[in-house]
Amino acid sequence: MCGIVGYIGHRNAIPIVIEGIKRLEYRGYDSSGVAVIGSENTLGLFRRQGKVIELERSLPAPSKSAGNVAIAHTRWATHGEPSERNAHPHTNCEKTLAVAHNGIIENFKALRDRLEAEGCVFASETDTEVLPHLIGFFRQKGLDLTEAVRETLQLVDGTYGIAVVDTEQPDRIVAARKGSPLILGIGDDEFFVTSDVSAIIIHTKKVIYLEDREIVTVRRDGFEISTLDNISVEGKVSIVEWDVSSIDKGPYKHFMLKEIFEQPESVANAFRGRIADSLSTARLGGLGLPPQELRRIKQIQIIACGTSWHAGLIGSYIIEDIARVPVRVEYAGEYRYRNPIIPEDTLVLVISQSGETADTLAALREARARGVRVLGLTNVVGSTIARETDGGVYIHAGAEIGVASTKAFTSQVTVLTLLAVLLGRMRHLSPLEGAEILNELKHIPDKIQTILDMNVEIRAIAASMVDDRNALYLGRGVHYPVALEGALKLKEISYIHAEGYPAAEMKHGPIALIDKEMPVVAIAMRDALYDKIVSNLQEVKARHGRLITIVDGLDDQIEALSDHTLCIPATLPTLQPLLSVIPLQLLAYHVADLRNMNVDQPRNLAKSVTVE
Ligand code: AGP
Ligand code: GLU
Repeated sequence: MCGIVGYIGHRNAIPIVIEGIKRLEYRGYDSSGVAVIGSENTLGLFRRQGKVIELERSLPAPSKSAGNVAIAHTRWATHGEPSERNAHPHTNCEKTLAVAHNGIIENFKALRDRLEAEGCVFASETDTEVLPHLIGFFRQKGLDLTEAVRETLQLVDGTYGIAVVDTEQPDRIVAARKGSPLILGIGDDEFFVTSDVSAIIIHTKKVIYLEDREIVTVRRDGFEISTLDNISVEGKVSIVEWDVSSIDKGPYKHFMLKEIFEQPESVANAFRGRIADSLSTARLGGLGLPPQELRRIKQIQIIACGTSWHAGLIGSYIIEDIARVPVRVEYAGEYRYRNPIIPEDTLVLVISQSGETADTLAALREARARGVRVLGLTNVVGSTIARETDGGVYIHAGAEIGVASTKAFTSQVTVLTLLAVLLGRMRHLSPLEGAEILNELKHIPDKIQTILDMNVEIRAIAASMVDDRNALYLGRGVHYPVALEGALKLKEISYIHAEGYPAAEMKHGPIALIDKEMPVVAIAMRDALYDKIVSNLQEVKARHGRLITIVDGLDDQIEALSDHTLCIPATLPTLQPLLSVIPLQLLAYHVADLRNMNVDQPRNLAKSVTVE
């Protein structure tokens, strides 16, 4: 949810970990803090409510806070309000050790009651604080830091990624994980621990992704990994492929805008090397399924949350249309508690940009526990979902920093389209039909660019929505999920209430809301349902609704009806969502920016939701 960065080496640690948590601010940002082991083996602890910049400003001069071992944290509160005293790192009563924690300690109440009964005084309302007290308790019994952490974690239910420093063993950081990501970064005579590689890739791309229930003890000259049960583990070194430039805004005002503008390239990266022209099909080696098994699939269940769920819903339209395989799309948070029915020959596909979403992870584990093969579509290499699935496809969108997902969405839809063609070609799709889709897919990046070139026009339309309090998004067929996604984007970053509806549903209820105050954003492509949607738009106009239409060909009817129209390039119906969502992303962005909202870090949201 939030971020951890730790450093041990020969450099001054604080600037490194502060810079690191700044890069993670997008994940959670209600407060932050840092603990450093000073030159006299003292614990320097600095915490602040608000942004990391507040923390940075409050730090004493480097001469007073120098040290080569530090851990830092940005918090997204789950237990206890965002405040300085609840900010991490937390300490034991003697203030000899400090802990930064991501996740939730579910049995903290029972543990806290026991500790308080023994005289322990708590300084915060967090669930986290039981950890330093318990570790301190085991340290006093003579255990070394790693063993004290191990004993503590045996007592804990819930999820954690933690990093611990101790003034009495000042030469090490001990870190561990269960359910929250934690990564060891390997530099030259220096090491990093972090919950997200983007915090450290300016220093090293050599990393080890810790597994659940693993503990690492990191010293300046090396590290040891073991399990909670004290079995030693080798640890597999991976090289992070992300480019350092992907974590900088470049000339853009916000990461979200940069990421929207990256889509010609990110979509191309999603299909690059995956089109087999000679066979007019797609090649998705990572699925790890032989053609015979792919052919046998009788049903697909797609499980995801939020924007990834919308991509999944688009996937269901495309896969059913092209491959004629029935697809069900489920919210992960529902699926995991619903006792789902998973018939024979079902393929379960989980979609998650971050690869760390707790609900999606739990749903995947439930499906796997039932002996079902689960494939994953993720962006973050080495993420928990990527590692726990039986196979899958990376979408290769590059680091997505803006909390509102944009380029990951189009990359997910691109890969789902490839999957649809692959499954289709094993069933009813002719080589000619397959080739038509794949050839047109290659033109999509240029067509996205054409839409991005309408940015100024879209900002002008956004200006007309700046003072609105509500908005309705309409689309039919495959554009219905696009309407949902457009509405979600607007809600997330501008805080304007917005809803997406299948256009035909409007008259069954939402039409009651329409008056001259209500902007209606409608996707009206010239496909088989064009006339139907034009009738729906007439219904809006008849009630004085303000119409913003996204079309792929202008005509008098649409022009007469619309207050604003955007004409985007035409493409095959199957591929239209990859284009029609772009103006909606830009619209949401500009409305939020014109309202002076914090686009990249909207209130209450975090980039990856690793708690329930
Ligand atoms: C997207 O704009 C949202 N912030 C959110 O709905 C997100 O898509 C959802 O939390 C799922 O995340 P994931 O793809 O990383 O699993
Ligand atoms: N549960 C902890 C808290 O509320 C950690 C939350 C987080 O992951 O930032 O402080």
